[in-house]
This record gives sequence, C-alpha cells and structure tokens, in this order.
Amino acid sequence: MAANIESVLHETRVFPPSPEFVKQANVSGMAAYKALCDEAERDPDGFWGRLAKEHLHWSKPFTNVLDESNAPFFKWFSDGELNASYNCLDRHLETQPDKIAIIFEADDGTVTKITYRELHQRVCHLANALRAHGVKQGDRVLIYMPMSIEVVQAMQACARIGATHSVVFGGFSAKSLQERIVDAGATEVITADGQLRGGREIPLKPVVDEAFAMGGCEKVRNVIVYRRTGSKVPMQAPRDKWLHDVVKGQPDTCEPAWVNAEHPLYILYTSGSTGKPKGVQHATGGYLLSAILTMKWVFDNKPTDIFWCTADVGWVTGHTYIVYGPLACGTTVVMFEGVPTYPDAGRFWKMIQDHKVNVFYTAPTAIRSLIKAGGDLPKKYDLSSLRILGTVGEPINPEAWMWYHTTVGRERCPIVDTWWQTETGSILITPLPGAIPTKPGSATLPLPGIAADIVDETGKSVGRGKGGLLVIKRPWPSMIRTIWGDPERFKKTYYPDDFKGEYYLAGDGASMDEEGYFRIVGRIDDVLNVSGHRLGTMEVESALVANSKLVAEAAVVGRPDDLTGEAIVAFVVPKGARPEGDDAKKMAQELRDWVGKEIGPIAKPKDIRFGDNLPKTRSGKIMRRLLRSIARGEEITQDVSTLENPAILEQLKQSR
Ligand code: WT7
Repeated sequence: MAANIESVLHETRVFPPSPEFVKQANVSGMAAYKALCDEAERDPDGFWGRLAKEHLHWSKPFTNVLDESNAPFFKWFSDGELNASYNCLDRHLETQPDKIAIIFEADDGTVTKITYRELHQRVCHLANALRAHGVKQGDRVLIYMPMSIEVVQAMQACARIGATHSVVFGGFSAKSLQERIVDAGATEVITADGQLRGGREIPLKPVVDEAFAMGGCEKVRNVIVYRRTGSKVPMQAPRDKWLHDVVKGQPDTCEPAWVNAEHPLYILYTSGSTGKPKGVQHATGGYLLSAILTMKWVFDNKPTDIFWCTADVGWVTGHTYIVYGPLACGTTVVMFEGVPTYPDAGRFWKMIQDHKVNVFYTAPTAIRSLIKAGGDLPKKYDLSSLRILGTVGEPINPEAWMWYHTTVGRERCPIVDTWWQTETGSILITPLPGAIPTKPGSATLPLPGIAADIVDETGKSVGRGKGGLLVIKRPWPSMIRTIWGDPERFKKTYYPDDFKGEYYLAGDGASMDEEGYFRIVGRIDDVLNVSGHRLGTMEVESALVANSKLVAEAAVVGRPDDLTGEAIVAFVVPKGARPEGDDAKKMAQELRDWVGKEIGPIAKPKDIRFGDNLPKTRSGKIMRRLLRSIARGEEITQDVSTLENPAILEQLKQSR
C-alpha cells in the first residue's frame, strides 16, 4: 500500500455561510456542529440510539445499539424491527397524504406528479403482486429499469415485503446483468421494454433476454416488464408479464413485513481492484437512519423543499438521495429520465426554474461538461429558488467549484462537496451548509459520529498538513455489512490486517490541511473513476482478454480527462500481427464495442494502443506505472532497470 500522498493544491479561498443561511439552518453554526460531534464522541451508543428513536418508526423497539461481538461484521439496532417502506410512505399518510412525493420529468419534457397517497397505493399493488408470485422475505429481486416512478415503486415494493433488491444500472450490458442475476441468486426480475435518453430509445427487455440466453438465470421465475417506450418486445409466456397486468385488481394496502434492523435491504454491485464486482450488502435500520440524518444535516431538509439529485437510481447516490432519504423525510423529489444536454445544455437550469428546485445535487463530471457546453447558459434562467448545491463522485477541481458557486449559486448557496462510497451508504465527509466554511475542492470535515482520519501504512495518524490513507476508525449505522456471498473478501478489502482489522479502509488517498479539512486525492488501488463511477482496471482487462480471437494480453490504466475525470487507456497485445494505421483504428473500434458489450458503454477505453508485448519485470509482472506515464504522455523518469524488455517502451509510445 502506498501512503506517500501529497496534496499539491494550496487553496486559500474560504467561504463562510451567510448569517441568513446560518439562522435558518437545521445545524446552525459551528458550535451546534461541535456539540453534535462532542455528544457522539462522549457516548456513541447514546447518540445513535437517541437519533434512531427520534427519526425512525420501529414496530419493535431496539435495546442494543451497536453489537461489536463479531467485528468487523458490525450490527446496528439488531434486536429492533421495522420496515423501510413503512418509514418512507405510511408515516406520511396521516400528516401529508396529498403532498407530492415525486415530480417526474420524462426525456421529452412530459411531467408526471405523484402524491404520497398514490405512491403508497402503487407500491402496495406491486408488493401484493410480488407476494402472489411467491416472492418471500429475503428473496432477491433484480431491478433493471429506467429512471421512472415505476423504479421507485419496484424498490419500495421489495422493501415492503422484505425482499432484497439489487438494482442494475440501465447502461450495463447483458453480460454484466447476467453476472449479477447469478451472483445475487435472483428469483424475480423487474425491467422495462426500453428507456428514452436524449431522444433515443435504448432497449432493456431485449438485454434481459440476452442475459437469460447466457444461462445461469434458471432461478428467475418471473420477469415483470414496465411498458415505457411501447416498442414491440418479445414476451415469453409464462415467464414474462406486463407490470400493468400484474398489478391489476391488487388491493390498495399491503401489510408490511416487519424485518430485523439488520435484514438486507439491498445489494448493490460496485467495482474493486481485483476479481468480479462486489455485491455491497446494506442493512435496513442503520442505513435508513443515516439516509434521513444526512438529508437533514447536509441538505438542510425542510418540509417545503423541492429536492433534486441527478444521479441514476442504478448507483448508490440514487438509492440514498432519490429513493430512501428523501421519501423517509417526506420530501418532494424531482426525478429526471433524460440527459443534461438534451434538447440543449440548458436542460438542468430550465428544470430548476420550472420545478423551483431548492436543493440541487449533481456530479463534477456533469458540471464540467455543462461548463464546456455553455458556461453562460445558467444566466438565462431564474435560479433564485436554489438554496444549496451539492457534488459527489470525484474530487471537484477548484475552477469548476468556483463556476458552480458564482454562475449557478449566484454566490448565495453553500456548496456541499460530499465524500462517500457505495460501501458507506450515506455521506460521511462534507461541510454542513449552515456551519462549516467551505473551501473549493475540499470535502471539509467528517459528520458528527464519523471517526474519519488519515493514516500512514502502519495506521498512525499523519496529522495536519500531511497526506495518507483515508480510514474510518469507528463503525457507523449505514456501513456495508458484508460482500454478498463473500465475507472473507469483505474483511480483506475493508478491514485489512495492516490496521489490525480495526479501521475501515476506504481505498482513497487524502490529505489534511492545517485546519483539519480533508481533501480527497483519489483511489490508491487499481480502480478508475470515470464520470464519477468506479471501474476496476481488472474488469476492463478481463473483458478485453475475453476476446480470444483478437487479444492475447491487455493492461488498462487511467489518465486525467477534462470531462470524465479519468479516461481509460488500454494497452493490447494482439493475437496475430500488430495492426498499424487504418487496421489499428479498425481493431481499436472493434475492441471498444466489444468492451461496451461485455460491461457497458462507460467502460469503453478512450484510447487503445497495440504492442508486441507489455513492459514486464523479470518475474513477469506488468509494470503499470510505466504504462501510466506513457498513457499520460509523460517522460519516463522511473527506474527501468528491472524491466525485462526495455525496447517495448518506445514501441508503445509511438503506437498511437
Ligand atoms: C469513490 C466512491 C458515493 C456516491 C458516488 C460514487 C470518489 C466520491 C467524492 C468527493 C472526492 C469522491 C472516491 C470514492 N468520491 N465522492 N466528494 N470527492 N472523491 O460512489 O462508485 O462507490 O465511488 O468515489 O474515490 O472512494 P462509488
């Protein structure tokens, strides 16, 4: 593990929240933030226990807050019982049944609104239908759907009957889908005929069929299909059923399954540095608590808020800040089917204006692409409804931060740069908008109760002004419980022996400035961050090598990219003769398409280079750091004395 991480950025601009903002904030001022931190520090169990009682409805109260007896398999509130869907929907039926739960804007601009009462009904219909199909508590349901009210209905219906859902991003390929169906052991699939993005139709059901054709999906008894585009898709009886048919005649209510707080609410697959994607398993009680608290603390959630998180539900951001956090808080969420640049790059700003969005949460990659596509466009819209801006997914460069602050926020809105991961379940490091002064490019300070620190390889805190490995030293409620079906990998990856198994290792490098502010530098493992999404270099390499007709060997590295943060560069040793000129271009295109089919379009290498070999040590290990320098067009200054075949470097450099 390399811990010699230095921050080269020296940011001196500081933006304290305005007095007006502080006055109305849920956590108002630095002293209030510190008081919460102190409470958590003094008595962690008392702190989390108090909040879990205040913010969740328990059908059976818990008496035990944190169970550490089988560390690092921590349990939270483990003798309590609750239901996530009850907490997201039923709770609001008495107080605000006619409040809008979701404002859905389709790709073509059509707007559909649904109240809490209607959403509750539709969730009950589908939950009853799933039960009628024989789906039981603990069964896994795989969801492969577009951004829609129906995907929320599907997730909530699973939660209602205690089925564990696993949502797969609609941009993933049949191969990726099949792997996840098999790994999760799903017995039910919910999908749609297709999805609409940027005026184009992208098929979904045909991809499900392709996944089934690969085999291994025999445990799936039913495929429920939401009719979105109306395109003709093959339906195989009796397995395939239309959503509108299965919910027909189902009762408007459905008794929720009261599950243990530790019951797996969902599995979400994410990339690691080695092996296949990891099924990150989240629990019910702790997860929901952190989702609610971060809505209130970080997004300063108010009863009148219109909240818009632009992420796809296929990622954890969509789980926590479209579906579970906002609904559990009884908020109105905006949900968007399309893409930010269609029909033009003003789409986001127009939607903020039309729906009077108060809190807007997006990714640095989207911000950068919108600056490029029309940096002045926000000025044409009325963005005065905005109160808070957020970012997530990767470090935001200070220039993009300043643009967000001035052009979108009009210097009025605090920016919350939120650091977290699929594994953490909810935001862990971020400014509280009414308390912590922000600095461009810094996620600032940990939330109350989050024992984040930066350590060296031996686990010693590096202290202020230094860099190292980001760790969390105490468990927190929404943490990953295990990797589905692979507890050993969970332990090895997140609670490594390097730190005596005591610290959660995030896999990110970070540095701390003189005031204790965190700056996340990036991954320390072989994981790429493309448009805010994690991809293992290994996964892309395996996909390339799987093309046994063309590829003998492949190595994949990242290089910085203006738009996507990191771009994938692949070095390929072809089976036959090394192609040159137009042949190389053709083969590169063929391999790009291949990777798109194997994993999904986001994994396509931007750049593919061909060589007769790869730079290797005498023991046969690929020297990636050299490939990284070549990919970035840098001079090679590293020691090449252990290199078996130095001549290969020249060839790879010239191979573009
Ligand atoms: C990785 C997690 C959590 C939702 C989206 C991504 C990077 C995330 C930030 C941030 C710098 C960030 C880290 C992290 N990351 N947020 N605010 N500043 N880096 O979830 O796919 O699990 O990726 O994204 O490298 O480890 P994910």
